[in-house]
Amino acid sequence: MTPDKNLIAAELERTRARTALLTEAVDDDELIRQHSPLMSPLVWDLAHVGNQEELWLVRDVGGRDPVRQDIDHLYDAFKHARGDRPALPLLDPAESRKYLTQVREKALDVLDRVRIDERPLVAGGFAFGMIVQHEQQHDETMLATHQLRAGGPVLSAPEPPPGNARVRGEVLVPGGPFTMGTDTDPWALDNERPAHAVDLPAFLIDAVPVTNAAYASFIDAGGYDDPRWWSSRGWAYRHEAGLTAPLHWIRDGGDWLYRRFGRVSPVRGDEPVVHVCFFEAEAYAKWAGKRLPTEAEWEKAARWDPETGRSRRYPWGDDPPGPEHANLGQRHLAPAPVGAYPAGASPLGVHQLIGDVWEWTSTVFHGYPGFKVFPYAEYSEVFFGGDYRVLRGGSFGTDAAACRGTFRNWDHPIRRQIFSGFRCVRELA
Ligand SMILES: [Fe+2]
Repeated sequence: MTPDKNLIAAELERTRARTALLTEAVDDDELIRQHSPLMSPLVWDLAHVGNQEELWLVRDVGGRDPVRQDIDHLYDAFKHARGDRPALPLLDPAESRKYLTQVREKALDVLDRVRIDERPLVAGGFAFGMIVQHEQQHDETMLATHQLRAGGPVLSAPEPPPGNARVRGEVLVPGGPFTMGTDTDPWALDNERPAHAVDLPAFLIDAVPVTNAAYASFIDAGGYDDPRWWSSRGWAYRHEAGLTAPLHWIRDGGDWLYRRFGRVSPVRGDEPVVHVCFFEAEAYAKWAGKRLPTEAEWEKAARWDPETGRSRRYPWGDDPPGPEHANLGQRHLAPAPVGAYPAGASPLGVHQLIGDVWEWTSTVFHGYPGFKVFPYAEYSEVFFGGDYRVLRGGSFGTDAAACRGTFRNWDHPIRRQIFSGFRCVRELA
């Protein structure tokens, strides 16, 4: 199932259309401004995706001369922290757009001429897939920047499909081995490889992500003021950062409002909670008498097919995500109410594992047994063993191209600006 050149070109163009939408929605002044010290100015993300495309597709795969070698250092994410990026002599919005167009023309020409053979960087169109995913990941980051920006709404999208109140409760995942990771997905990144067997005891997992209503019960029960539920680091951070509710929640008498992409509305009880950090997720789980899943538990619940014993690409099978399966790709600018995607459930009946909200797991980011760096250590290996927890499943802001049953995301346990939620597990009594 190697993607052909037409499909690769279509993916590159589809991705660029989203980048354009997110960066044309605001004026130049807002593109240059830093909306949060946690985020780059949008204009940095814009030229950075072009620079990565130049480095990998034009120079590396194509063997062509550089387009703008002089700007490489400005857009190297390891050279400048996000907070320092506004002070750099960045390309302005018009220059950035021109640069992206120049690079894209060359990259498409490289695609046209390259022989897709067994060389690792081009096998299955890998380098092109890596660049599509990279740009899509920045599109999600840019969407998170939009969520942090002050001011009125500039983005809009249709409402997600309705939920189903009958989809609740827990699902039993029987004990035994399953295959975690992949050897065969052509665009899977190094940290998703290799496929390996993991044997797990039986556990119960929530059929749906934790909802706003459930999370509000934790708040109402004094969860933020009770150290019994928090790890010592979590409790310290809760005080240091003054956490009292998910990011973007606003108290309104006895109710909660939520600010989402410039609009304020009542918090919806049946939506998955979003914008909570790992420590908040962990505290909720303990209060509920449960815990967060390990990454392996999450993946087994998402991929393991009890009929065949094999691991699927997605909970619903091997077909790519369609609008009936999952809330992905910024099609809707909110998580969908729980139960909204019956066609996307796993064989065991676990819902909304893909899309809606990234799900925190308790696992520290590491390489799988037999991990090999490919094609560069800065993609994942340099983060192994650091202060990062793995998140799984993608959010409404994640594109299908950058989301699989094996896809691994990671972030610091204090992060809340990302589209992060969670579900819980518990051992069998
Ligand atoms: Fe990047």
